[in-house]
Amino acid sequence: MIKKIAIIGGGNIGKAIALGLVQTRQFSSASIIVTRRKLSLISDLAEKGIEISDDNPYAVTKSDLIILAVRPMQVKALLEEIGNYINPETQILASLVPSVSIAEIRNIVGNEIAVMRMMPNLAISVKESMTLLSAESNNREELKDVQSVFNELGKTLIIDDELIPAATVLGSCGIAFFLRTIRAISQGGIQIGFHAEQAQLIASQTSKGAATLLIDSGNHPEKEIDKVTTPRGITIAGLNEMDHRGLNSALIKGIMTSYNEINNLLNNK
Ligand SMILES: NC(=O)c1ccc[n+]([C@@H]2O[C@H](COP(=O)([O-])OP(=O)(O)OC[C@H]3O[C@@H](n4cnc5c(N)ncnc54)[C@H](OP(=O)(O)O)[C@@H]3O)[C@@H](O)[C@H]2O)c1
Repeated sequence: MIKKIAIIGGGNIGKAIALGLVQTRQFSSASIIVTRRKLSLISDLAEKGIEISDDNPYAVTKSDLIILAVRPMQVKALLEEIGNYINPETQILASLVPSVSIAEIRNIVGNEIAVMRMMPNLAISVKESMTLLSAESNNREELKDVQSVFNELGKTLIIDDELIPAATVLGSCGIAFFLRTIRAISQGGIQIGFHAEQAQLIASQTSKGAATLLIDSGNHPEKEIDKVTTPRGITIAGLNEMDHRGLNSALIKGIMTSYNEINNLLNNK
């Protein structure tokens, strides 16, 4: 049972996870500890009652789940620092670092420790993350324990480890893709008469509504689109113009470009 969580690396995503966790019923601020070297940059977490520290071994020994939320080049030194403090009998190590494999982590911390990888996104701070998780077959039990924590913070999916780079692009980068789409729609909204903040609210809530329609029904997007597109109507005219201008193609090509980038990184390590 995971009761205490250490987040090693209180940057963008580490902080977002801490902020999400304190909104769950399962975890209070007292059950979370976040570390980074420049502590003053996470004093806002301390104000919420979350323990902050620059002492990684201390944070590790206090926790059941240790989440690594640092950049790739920081992983090796960090694992060398904390590896000996992890108890393989009771603790789980979960890495958010897309370019470091489970095998590479095990090379440093040893084979006995339960290691998994996960890919959340920034919406974890509002409990709306899409979190993809993977582990080797001998750590399936621990994976389920970690999944139950992240189920409280949005949706989760267990995937094959080889899909983690793709998960990074679709889920983690995906937040930025949707935000940019919302911004573009807001800009259109301003041009047809709304103030910027009104346009953003309309675009954001409409996008949330579209996503909720699909998540709740499991329907294909076109099934819902068919309900909006009356023959010779205004919606189909706009949609077809967007398609003529390459909306679908631009999004797919963007995803492929990000995917190629992450594969280049992995191949040139
Ligand atoms: N951002 C996202 O949405 C997202 C989503 C999924 C996965 N990820 C992955 O998560 C990792 C972190 O991403 P990020 O965007 O949060 O990066 P970030 O904002 O740069 O955060 C990294 C944090 O690690 C801390 N750090 C570095 N060395 C440390 C050490 N030895 N001990 C403790 N803390 C240390 C840094 O703070 P100090 O310099 O003060 O120590 C910094 O706050 C990356 O590998 C990224 O690919 C990110």
